[in-house]
Amino acid sequence: MSVSDCRIVELPKIQNSQGNLTFIENSRHIPFDIKRVYYLYDVPGGSERGSHAHKHLHQFIIAMSGSFDVVLNDGRQEQRFHLNRSHYGLYVCPMMWRYLDNFSSGAVCLVLASEMYSESDYIRDYDVFLAAAREGV
Ligand code: TYD
Repeated sequence: MSVSDCRIVELPKIQNSQGNLTFIENSRHIPFDIKRVYYLYDVPGGSERGSHAHKHLHQFIIAMSGSFDVVLNDGRQEQRFHLNRSHYGLYVCPMMWRYLDNFSSGAVCLVLASEMYSESDYIRDYDVFLAAAREGV
């Protein structure tokens, strides 16, 4: 897996004078089936979230409100993505070290995930991540 497997995806947007509507359908708009949804909100200015990798989890991250950055690192290269529109999302493949920062006031970060929560899927130590990424685990 490399950072180049991760990408910004433009979602459908139905616009009219009464407002906009965006929808997401399993596997049609994102490359996995959704088993879990969670969201980050009330994030204090200057906070950093994440700082871990997932062994098998696929995720899709949307700035539902406000903005923030997602930094992805595959063990060789790092890329920063700025999310600030609710009809764009970032697909994050497994084995990406990630952290989120630069949260605007009132930002809401929605995460669609391919699996239920499992602490054993996390790698929370960066050196352990680097060793696993180099082994191609
Ligand atoms: P964590 O994924 O470490 O948060 P972040 O990456 O945003 O900093 O999760 C924080 C805590 O919440 C941790 O104790 C695990 C718990 N948690 C759940 O119980 N279920 C979930 O779906 C998620 C994402 C986290």
